[in-house]
Amino acid sequence: MRSFLFIPGDSPKKLDKGMGSGADALLLDLEDSISPQNKAQARATTLAFLKEAMPVKARPRIYVRINGLATGLTDDDLDAVVSGRPDGIMFPKAEGGAAVIHCDAKITAREAVHGLPEGALDIIAIATETAQAMFLAGTYVDASKRLKGLTWGAEDLSVELGAEANRDRDGHFLAPYQLARSLCLAGAAAAQVQAIDTVTIDFRNEAGLRRECEEARRDGFTGKMAIHPAQVAIINEVFTPTAEAVKRAEAVIAAFADNPGTGTVGIGGVMYDRPHLERARQLLARAKAISG
Ligand code: COA
Ligand code: MG
Repeated sequence: MRSFLFIPGDSPKKLDKGMGSGADALLLDLEDSISPQNKAQARATTLAFLKEAMPVKARPRIYVRINGLATGLTDDDLDAVVSGRPDGIMFPKAEGGAAVIHCDAKITAREAVHGLPEGALDIIAIATETAQAMFLAGTYVDASKRLKGLTWGAEDLSVELGAEANRDRDGHFLAPYQLARSLCLAGAAAAQVQAIDTVTIDFRNEAGLRRECEEARRDGFTGKMAIHPAQVAIINEVFTPTAEAVKRAEAVIAAFADNPGTGTVGIGGVMYDRPHLERARQLLARAKAISG
């Protein structure tokens, strides 16, 4: 999945719009975009939408972002939405693998109550939203079979750190947030799950979004979250492997196939070894998943 579009879970209009947005995944939000007094209504609206949207054949994957474990709202959120059988749960303010295990157990209980197969729902965790979470980014390995992705957040983290800003004047993330981004990337790679880049909140800034997508892809992220439908096309474009990248990957795979048992090959004056072969396979798998 390349693009993950956040939609406030209390807005039927935006929820409907999300279905035609072109996003690979929708993140129906019960957390930060919903005011405390609207939580109950948002759960009901989100469940009604899930009942309509999940049976649709050609649709994005659909996740619900619940409220974090410290809020006291997690159980009510899961009680409300698991019966709508979303593809998964986005788990915010995760503090390491232990918190994911906790969330997993809560989901398992609801799957049993609603007669769903155990493990039906995936988890995507937001790994860097608290100060403590930063120190736990390496603990997601083998936490849960449900865990399919890690992403990171700069907004909540900057509040917790007491920061005045999280970006410099040119819009680049400042050091603490670059660290969070790197920890997410390494944590995801260690846990062998997808690394998903955080949101770009100034949604009219197309050039800034494109730059962030390109930097994320360069570093190993394979998707990015969006907050506005206008961001989806750019994210999809940048995270779709180019024809040139596919050709390069095919050449690497062919070179190893032509030299069985070899650990390293030269193509066009450049050395490729086993990690490059693995990367080429991953890229082709992603390209294939996108083209269907
Ligand atoms: N998902 C689906 N549709 C959306 C959308 C979203 N995230 N954001 C905007 N739209 C719709 C609007 O309803 C509007 O529809 P219309 O043309 O039928 O009236 C259209 O897209 C254009 O929206 P626009 O006027 O440019 O933006 P806005 O001022 O209505 O909304 C935000 C701006 C930021 C409030 C809105 O984009 C939003 O709610 N984003 C998601 C916020 C969120 O979930 N945050 C939590 C994660 S950080
Ligand atoms: Mg948040």
